[in-house]
Amino acid sequence: MILAFETSCDDTCVALVGDDGTIHANVISSQEVHNRFGGVVPEIAARHHVELIDAVVGEAFARAGVGVEQVSLVAATRGPGLIGALLVGFCAAKGFAAARELPFAPVDHLSGHVAAAYLAPARFEPPFLALIASGGHTLLLDVAARAGPVQVLARTLDDAAGEAFDKGARMLGLGYPGGAALSRLAADGDPSSYAFPRGRGEDFSFAGLKTALLYKIREVDASDPQVRANLAASYERAIVEALVRRVVRALDRRGTARLALGGGVAANGPLRARLAELGVELFLPPLELCTDNAAMIASAARDVEALAYPDYLALDVYATGEGPLR
Ligand code: KG4
Ligand code: ZN
Repeated sequence: MILAFETSCDDTCVALVGDDGTIHANVISSQEVHNRFGGVVPEIAARHHVELIDAVVGEAFARAGVGVEQVSLVAATRGPGLIGALLVGFCAAKGFAAARELPFAPVDHLSGHVAAAYLAPARFEPPFLALIASGGHTLLLDVAARAGPVQVLARTLDDAAGEAFDKGARMLGLGYPGGAALSRLAADGDPSSYAFPRGRGEDFSFAGLKTALLYKIREVDASDPQVRANLAASYERAIVEALVRRVVRALDRRGTARLALGGGVAANGPLRARLAELGVELFLPPLELCTDNAAMIASAARDVEALAYPDYLALDVYATGEGPLR
């Protein structure tokens, strides 16, 4: 049994996963406290992780119905993420492992999003292309093997796709995080109402789109509910098409017909629908495996070389720049 911790941002997550990829518990405690600030406040996130982590670990064992003696490997997200937040889960995990002299596996957060595909019951295995789109990252990856190096085919030049959703939602007065709310508003709108840019070139770029929405809101009567729905629908369409266009091109160039989706934006209905239309072998994670969770970290830990006790005690976290997918 693998015990995994994920606290890279504002979700306090602990999971118990079998070596065969069976999820026995996947506890996610989301910190709603940040919503009124319009974004995650790093220091507050770290403090809440400290307050929540013991209870979340207890809840994971209770839900899985297993004892601590059944844990044979401990894993935690090492980065990238908010340093203070990462430290809480990472140190809790090291402490749990050290107390029992268990091996410890440090896991890269983005490798975790990819490894969500390897969990039961899907067990979607490489080779495949992966689109990881979250509030912090937008990456198109060529995953040749579970443990091998991963090639980055495209990344974002400015904002992440989830950030684009969140900023658009904010401009439309929908609160934070607004991706899902924007998508709900968009469902009542006509996506062909406004022509928003999809970005040029190989990489993703959402800064121009964001500015285009800002100017369009000033131009139209944004207090009209139908106009707002049309704005949301057109804006969502632009993000989805920007993602899909580059995915299609990469699938074509690489001559592969296997695609895995990951990250919070993978929860987006129109994106899932558009990708499903492509007729490729597709792994669309269930919603609780799209957004940040510790089951995906446990899954990735199976392909990481674990450190024996006490070799991991001095290991540190990283905010950015050190992971395999930098
Ligand atoms: O992976 P995640 O939980 O956290 C990060 O690692 O960032 O992703 C959160 C992001 C947020 O930007 C949120 O607005 C977006 O995923 N998101 C959505 C939807 N659900 C969550 N974006 C579009 N449509 C959704 N249904
Ligand atoms: Zn994430």
